[in-house]
Amino acid sequence: CLSPALLHLYDTKDTIVVIIDVFRATSTIAAALHNGARAVIPIASVEECIALTNTVEGCITAGERDGKVVPGLQYGNSPLEYSAGFIGGKTLALTTTNGTKLLHMVRDADTIITGSFLNLDAVCTYLKKRGQKVLLACAAWKDRVNMEDTLFAGAVAEALQDDFALLCDSAQMAVSLYRQAQTAPSLLAFLEPSSHYKRLSNFGLVGDMAYCTTPNQHPVVPVYNGKELVAG
Ligand code: MLT
Repeated sequence: CLSPALLHLYDTKDTIVVIIDVFRATSTIAAALHNGARAVIPIASVEECIALTNTVEGCITAGERDGKVVPGLQYGNSPLEYSAGFIGGKTLALTTTNGTKLLHMVRDADTIITGSFLNLDAVCTYLKKRGQKVLLACAAWKDRVNMEDTLFAGAVAEALQDDFALLCDSAQMAVSLYRQAQTAPSLLAFLEPSSHYKRLSNFGLVGDMAYCTTPNQHPVVPVYNGKELVAG
């Protein structure tokens, strides 16, 4: 597993790349698609996102910069905003600080999917079934390693280790972190010292983080087709 600054060191050919942004982009993607969104379009810039409202029918614009809702976008980056009653049948155009950015950086992968605790088992089952080389790509925070994405990478690496060789020390380290987290009262409690926990709790978003660390609420595998993410 890696942070975005290291992506160029990895050969992604014939590889399934799992984009991970637990707080909160890939959690929001899992929630929206499982709750019936037609698709999620990951967008690089706020301006492009706003422009899509005029070109794609039934399109909702959403996202954040530095964790905050951006003026001009209709909704934020909270998985709790996208209930079935609201998002069902709609298209979500999403732009975020790190998660959607990393998705656009990956070149030549066999398949790109997104993962979060909300769809942990669905992602692991998919990867086991495919049986191909996997790269756990952590969106992190502005190229700096973060705890929550590494923790999720550890959960996946632990679940896969009987079927896959862990080729990278960072995967071993992620597994150690995930095992250490099992001694905490909860995954959320374990993440309290992390920088993004502090950032989001300053915005009153502890409820979002509690939800994002609750495994398997949205059993879906979001697959990127080069343009949009759809339920695989
Ligand atoms: C990101 O892409 O950096 C995150 O999803 C930020 C957030 O909304 O917490």
